[in-house]
Amino acid sequence: MKLFIDSANLKQIKEADALGIADGVTTNPTLVSKEEQDFKSLIQDICAVMGDRPVSAEGISTDTEGMLKEARTLAKWAPNVVVKIPMTADGLKAVRVLSQEEIKTNVTLIFTANQALLAAKAGATYVSPFMGRLDDIDQDGLLVVKDTAAIFENYDIRAEIIAASVRHPLHVSASAKAKAHIATVPPALIHQMIRHPLTEAGIKRFFQDWEKAKQQKDIEIER
Ligand code: G3P
Repeated sequence: MKLFIDSANLKQIKEADALGIADGVTTNPTLVSKEEQDFKSLIQDICAVMGDRPVSAEGISTDTEGMLKEARTLAKWAPNVVVKIPMTADGLKAVRVLSQEEIKTNVTLIFTANQALLAAKAGATYVSPFMGRLDDIDQDGLLVVKDTAAIFENYDIRAEIIAASVRHPLHVSASAKAKAHIATVPPALIHQMIRHPLTEAGIKRFFQDWEKAKQQKDIEIER
């Protein structure tokens, strides 16, 4: 499973990249609004850090023409830009044209498997079901990921499923088991996934035992 970093913060993206786990980045207008840097140079800087790995950037138009104009501009900023398009009828029309122009798209704000199917049929490169926002309203976000993955498998659909609006470690492992291709993960969640109290207790115990042994024999490691 691929992991994308759900952030527009360059420092956090670089830190996640240093961990060797970042297969791409997703941003959205909310994440970009938290950063001081102007949109274009921010996306270009993130794209440069990621090299040839995909970086999703989103405009704010709601009509097809506006989405197309924004998408063509965003796609020129860097070769690895993927344009995020909202899941609406206008969005689908835009995705269709953009796929003909070989501009990669990530259809966002998906809340049902049917929406994901439509986005894929229109030519989306990625579809992003929002797990956390469904759970927030007492609906099953994981079920949408599972159903989408089953449908895509049944019909050999190429679009990749990005489990998005991921809020806790179980969302990541459950969406991996459900065969999502990708989970896009906020940086803080990566650290929740790394840490385990037994790992920390284990390190402490090894250190203490080593220190005790050092008093009796030479077991230093050259550094
Ligand atoms: O990947 C989409 C994500 O940025 C939205 O997350 O937590 O605002 O629902 P959230």
